[in-house]
Amino acid sequence: MSEPREITEPAVDSAVDAALAAFAAAADTAALKVAKAAHAGESSPLAALNAQLRDVPAEQKAELGKLVGQARGRVAQAISAREGELAVAEEQARLAAETLDVTAVPALRARGARHPLTALMEQMSDIFIGMGWEVAEGPELENEWFNFDALNFDPDHPARAMQDTFFIDPVERHLVLRTHTSPVQVRSLLDRGVPLYVVAPGRVFRTDELDATHTPVFHQLEGIAIDKGLTMGHLRGTLEHLARALFGEGARIRLRPSYFPFTEPSAELDVWHPTFKDGARWIEWGGCGMVNPNVLRAAGIDPDEYQGFAFGMGIERTLMFRNDVKDMRDMVEGDIRFSQQFGMVV
Ligand code: DAH
Repeated sequence: MSEPREITEPAVDSAVDAALAAFAAAADTAALKVAKAAHAGESSPLAALNAQLRDVPAEQKAELGKLVGQARGRVAQAISAREGELAVAEEQARLAAETLDVTAVPALRARGARHPLTALMEQMSDIFIGMGWEVAEGPELENEWFNFDALNFDPDHPARAMQDTFFIDPVERHLVLRTHTSPVQVRSLLDRGVPLYVVAPGRVFRTDELDATHTPVFHQLEGIAIDKGLTMGHLRGTLEHLARALFGEGARIRLRPSYFPFTEPSAELDVWHPTFKDGARWIEWGGCGMVNPNVLRAAGIDPDEYQGFAFGMGIERTLMFRNDVKDMRDMVEGDIRFSQQFGMVV
């Protein structure tokens, strides 16, 4: 408790001045609370002056009461003004501290891209799915029997050597890296039976050196249809539909007599389109023919009852002339900038 003082204007003014100075000096609300207790609380000089009002003579009560009352009013006002100021300043400081820069660029993982060979195989498969065909798969490590014998290759047929086969050690196991997707023809006949309408996209292997137009690993799409009464007309119509769906309405196909052990008759398949990159021209695309009765027999199917056609084409080759890719090595090097040029077409 401070010493009782006489209620005089200077005494009141000095109490008020001290209070205002203390409030102005309070740097935060906690400091202001302390200053408030000291200068406006129960044991403050102003409170003491106010208490003395009880003892002043009645004729001075009104005047001194007004003096002390106004002083207390000014002090109360100063407190709330300073409280307001400090609250705003503290709010601003808190907001500044909590600021999150939402414009900052996060470290995103670079997007990948689908390989155009995968996208093309899926697009070709989809064209057949649209005609009610199924998609089949076979192993890349294949029995020699499926890769050659069941497809009517003689044991010493030159075609066996022609296909530059990777044989697996020891050769007595008769395992090869499949040289074409045609073994899926026989596997599908055995697994699914007839009638059969399947395409088999997949990877194949030959002992070629990697250069601009060869890779030892490449892809093919095989197709086989076996039913009652299928003819070369059905083969032609199917391939024409594939060519138009893939290259556009202007596409034409052409079949040239050829030889494959697993088809009879056999044909080379050429495709023509007015807008091919190097101008309208015929391009060798694949092989096809009517499935040789010996292939049907190898799968236990009576060739007098069921007949059909088959075809096969290279996917890399298709991509090269469709998209004007000049060097096959671009397809195997795995540089994402190559794949990204083809977009995310599924
Ligand atoms: N398998 C052949 C090759 O890799 C392509 C082929 C030709 C597939 C004629 C066929 C066909 O289904 O009927 O060269």
